[in-house]
Amino acid sequence: MTDSPRSYPRHLDCGGTAVEIAPMTSRDGAALTDLVATLPPHDLLFLRRDLSHPKVIAAWMRALDEGELASLVARADGRMVGCTAIFTDALSWSRHVGELRVLLDPAWRGRGLGRVLMQECFVQALALGLTKLVAQMTTDQRAAIAVFEELGFRAEALLSRHVRDRDGALHDLVLMSHDVGAVAARHELYGLGDALGTPG
Ligand SMILES: CC(C)(COP(=O)(O)OP(=O)(O)OC[C@H]1O[C@@H](n2cnc3c(N)ncnc32)[C@H](O)[C@@H]1OP(=O)(O)O)[C@@H](O)C(=O)NCCC(=O)NCCS
Repeated sequence: MTDSPRSYPRHLDCGGTAVEIAPMTSRDGAALTDLVATLPPHDLLFLRRDLSHPKVIAAWMRALDEGELASLVARADGRMVGCTAIFTDALSWSRHVGELRVLLDPAWRGRGLGRVLMQECFVQALALGLTKLVAQMTTDQRAAIAVFEELGFRAEALLSRHVRDRDGALHDLVLMSHDVGAVAARHELYGLGDALGTPG
């Protein structure tokens, strides 16, 4: 996996609190477990695997060591308050597609941090040579859908009764996508080549 040319850590002020954004490493497993513990169970339903399970966190850490995914963390006050992941599969016919995941501690939502993290992911996606990003979430995640739409994602498919929560209830998933390649090409055309790379 190609390294992003961007230099990390990056620092930003988020409502008066200093936030550091840096690549996640396999040493972040315990901090990721703590972040997951802050999330309502419903927020985890869009993930393919149940992140509250230690084995799933361990697999994420292994994938980082093996360079199979690009992941960022946001830290504040010594804790992980958010993270991202772009999953790719170099051996599939969709190796130009990255699956984006963004998770924020509920106490940190609505302050613009999710938008900044997603913009960082666009930069990573371009550096990885990806031209399409997809993200999925349950259809009742109104805030998440609004953030993704604001950044140019559009609903592409509805997966009916696709996830079953711990109580057995079924939920629909919306698959949203973003043509990163087309946006980058447009920016180049207008001489704004760096515009995607200057969040915050
Ligand atoms: C999705 C998520 C990462 C968004 O992060 P966030 O930091 O709260 O979002 P931001 O504060 O950057 O909001 C960016 C824009 O989204 C929109 N938005 C954010 N929260 C909103 C809400 N509750 N209702 C409507 N619009 C909202 C606004 O347009 C906002 O822009 P503004 O601040 O200028 O008004 C966060 O809600 C989250 O972790 N959700 C649970 C996990 C999830 O569903 N992830 C998505 C699947 S990958």
